[in-house]
Amino acid sequence: MKIYQCAVMGSGGVGKSAVTVRFINGSYLEWYDPTNRKQFTVDQQPCLLEILDTAGIDQYLTLNDLFIRKSEGFVLVFSLTQRDSFEEIIRTRETIERIKLPQETGHGIPIVIVGNKCDLVDEREVDMVEGEKLAQQWHCHYYETSARTATNVNPVFEEIVRQMRLQ
Ligand code: GTP
Ligand code: MG
Repeated sequence: MKIYQCAVMGSGGVGKSAVTVRFINGSYLEWYDPTNRKQFTVDQQPCLLEILDTAGIDQYLTLNDLFIRKSEGFVLVFSLTQRDSFEEIIRTRETIERIKLPQETGHGIPIVIVGNKCDLVDEREVDMVEGEKLAQQWHCHYYETSARTATNVNPVFEEIVRQMRLQ
């Protein structure tokens, strides 16, 4: 079975770990196995996905460079309740492109954009339209998720596998 590796990146506290754990374990904010692997089926084809759950990018830049080199796909998470984190994923993508592009195959780097914490409707600072516009610009998919209510989490990882298969 094909093994895919993706990294989950974004500012501190946006819910990278919560989204990853929700996908791997189906639980919310509970301890999890740090190997972060899950076998599942995408478009009738089985795959094994290994997820690198990174820490907020600013603090551990060197480590993130290593994660970027190791990964084929990238789930860029921001919080819908924190505009700064939306701007941060633009910088994160630039870093990914700087590191990845020299070895590119021509299909573009597999990326999925995630606006997390959609359950916090009263605290929203980023509109759905803004996320969709960015995704259009980057030719990728955008999902609004909630790790808390398990909204839209599985589609994120299904889509990143689809993108990695195109490589
Ligand atoms: P770092 O590892 O420090 O970079 O943070 P992170 O991006 O992994 O965030 P984490 O998953 O630790 O989530 C941070 C906090 O945000 C959690 O303790 C939750 O309280 C909250 N949180 C995460 N996801 C959600 C969500 O979908 N909805 C709500 N309401 N809160 C969330
Ligand atoms: Mg975390």
